[in-house]
Amino acid sequence: MRLDKYLTELQIGTRSQVKQIIRKGSVFVNGEPVKKPEYSVDEANDTIIYNGKVLSYQKYQYFMLYKPAGVVTATKDNFDKTVLDLLPSDAGKGLFPVGRLDKDTEGLLLITNDGELAHRLLAPKKHVEKTYYTECSGTISREAVARLEQGIDIGDDTPTKPAKVKILSQMTDMYTLELTITEGRFHQVKRMIAAAGGQVTYLKRIAMGTLTLDSTLEKGSYRVLTEQELVELKQL
Ligand code: URA
Repeated sequence: MRLDKYLTELQIGTRSQVKQIIRKGSVFVNGEPVKKPEYSVDEANDTIIYNGKVLSYQKYQYFMLYKPAGVVTATKDNFDKTVLDLLPSDAGKGLFPVGRLDKDTEGLLLITNDGELAHRLLAPKKHVEKTYYTECSGTISREAVARLEQGIDIGDDTPTKPAKVKILSQMTDMYTLELTITEGRFHQVKRMIAAAGGQVTYLKRIAMGTLTLDSTLEKGSYRVLTEQELVELKQL
């Protein structure tokens, strides 16, 4: 990649600003000052230093967002605030949410521009687990829990794949439970709970694959994935 393009992608400055920086001799490649903006660098192997700092090039960005209710899972929307509006405008190019949460659903959302990883996480054949914390009203019988666990008819051509159900609390007609599913059908959790005799009053995604929502994140805020989180996610 051209040196000026490399520095621009790292947001050191605009293309014309980085050209000036390079021409001044402030950028070193493998210990030598390089004054030609068109100089070709090997971004994976060359050591590039600017202002005394070694620059490192990350091809893709990965953010964990704690999606609040009221925000739509889209890259653009004419009426509503989108999940991308919660990231800084210079967070990266081509970012998109991996999978979809309803407008009123909260919780874990991965935002990246790594299309290959997103494709793998969403591929139906991969059966990546998604865990939701849900508060429900209504009556969910033991028999209905068994149907959720076996695969329940939600009005589609085929029943859902078996889910894991953990009842956290149960009062007369109020439940809190964790539901782990491996598909991503439209309004899937709400429809599964409805088919089981309940009604979701609150829904929050707490995990996707190996990634769990960071309990220190405030609603509406985000952080970059750690190296460890990324490695584990890529191994799925
Ligand atoms: N299932 C739903 O019903 N809604 C979501 O947002 C995610 C899963």
